[in-house]
Amino acid sequence: MEKSLRKWQIAFFGDKSIVDSEKAVTIFDTTLRDGEQTPGVSFTLEQKIKIAHQLSDIGVDVIEAGFPASSDVEFETVKKICEEGIRPKICGLARSVKSDVDRCIEAGVDMVHVFIPTSEIQRTHTIKKSHAEVLEITREIISYTRSKCSLVMFSPMDATRTDPKELIEVCRVADEAGATIINLPDTVGICTPSMMKPLVEMVRKNVKCRIDVHCHNDFGLAVANTIAAVEGGADQVQVTINGIGERAGNADIAQTVMIMESIYKIKTNIITERLVETSRLVSRFAQIPVLPIQPVVGENAFSHESGIHSHGVMANPGTFEPGIMTPEMVGHRRRLKLGKHVGKHAVKQMLMDANINPKDSELDIIVAKVKEVSGRGKKVTESDLYEIADSITGTGSQEKAVVLDDISIFTGNHAIPTASVRAIVNGRNLICSKTGDGPVDAAMKALLGIAPGNVLLKSYQVEAISGGSDALGCVTIEVEDDRGRIFDASASNSDIVIASAEAMVNALNVVYRTGSL
Ligand code: KIV
Ligand code: ZN
Repeated sequence: MEKSLRKWQIAFFGDKSIVDSEKAVTIFDTTLRDGEQTPGVSFTLEQKIKIAHQLSDIGVDVIEAGFPASSDVEFETVKKICEEGIRPKICGLARSVKSDVDRCIEAGVDMVHVFIPTSEIQRTHTIKKSHAEVLEITREIISYTRSKCSLVMFSPMDATRTDPKELIEVCRVADEAGATIINLPDTVGICTPSMMKPLVEMVRKNVKCRIDVHCHNDFGLAVANTIAAVEGGADQVQVTINGIGERAGNADIAQTVMIMESIYKIKTNIITERLVETSRLVSRFAQIPVLPIQPVVGENAFSHESGIHSHGVMANPGTFEPGIMTPEMVGHRRRLKLGKHVGKHAVKQMLMDANINPKDSELDIIVAKVKEVSGRGKKVTESDLYEIADSITGTGSQEKAVVLDDISIFTGNHAIPTASVRAIVNGRNLICSKTGDGPVDAAMKALLGIAPGNVLLKSYQVEAISGGSDALGCVTIEVEDDRGRIFDASASNSDIVIASAEAMVNALNVVYRTGSL
């Protein structure tokens, strides 16, 4: 990047580097271990294997696959992941007991991660050991583990609440006993960036091995602390997809990696263009939705609603985006959004994309209508915008590309939900039947089956408009075409399956209208 441009983008620091930009930091992903400790999250074996492959494909260096000694199922899972033969090193967690280490080795891991509580509060209330005893256990377990495995990670658990003198002693003992990397866990997320940096620098001065950091997010500082640790000299960072993990979670991979790559110019092996896709996969498996305002991967991360912002971004995306991180860099897409702050330029651009070219006076009425509808708290989708524009410009009489003729659903507690649809698509009668996880899933799949090209359902939301069992369900969906472009549409009906089917038909019509199919 041009020097002057970079100075512009990080004006405060100018050309001064915060860290050595030649530094490379490795990524240790603990989605399958600490991530699975998220209350309510339990991945199936199949999902864990899919996540492991995804992590491998996007360039993660080490995958913590689980805690083999915790149960036979966990042991088998870690073993199966090891047998996949994927590129990253596979790590297993172990308490500081030989039987835990043995289970990791039997599972076939490349790296054993041994931990022991070192803060006074955890030492006395969990393992009931003195600092001297912890030192002895550490010396013994690390040399035992090293005799069985060439890669050994040592974690003084609750490092950030451990007496600094005692922390240095235990880290030195682990280093001398053969640990290949020392992880400093901020177990209860109480550190701040200005404390984390000197903490890592202090340990750095006392050990020869590499340093890693594992930050929890109890005060929302997990990513900031992880970055401060890198500033202090950490060689590796522990992250999870979407920041899932115990309590408030861990440092999020997408934010951590993009801060390092874009702001600090630190190299990682991550294929950043696949961050959004990875986030969506884990969100689906964990059943934890990604907040629209989640940095980097959230739906709104590169969306612009206000007139001033949309206008600026249309002129030059760097006006209201970081510039050093573009949507393309993380596998996202820039979107102009419809809402009460929308401006004329954005609406005009969106209509032009769908080959609707209103006169200036018509555009004013369309913008006013969009503002009025969203001012009443209703989301205005692209399909709603086209409906509004059609009614004002008189283009509404044009044939819809997809007309749903018939939909029938078969479901029950012992039946496989099946949907059959008959529709006219560009004048041709098409039929498609699909099974699904439920009647809505089956209906969505059957409708996607009549769409030529590769349209995918990206998100699905349902809201009950009134209170009772006859409530009107409002379904809003987003679909993605094979160019990665996202389109939204909605529909309401007291039958939730019909509302879903109509929302999908509306979405497919938007895709057709913008020339994607
Ligand atoms: O948060 C923590 O301290 C941990 C250890 C096992 C490293 O997850
Ligand atoms: Zn943890």
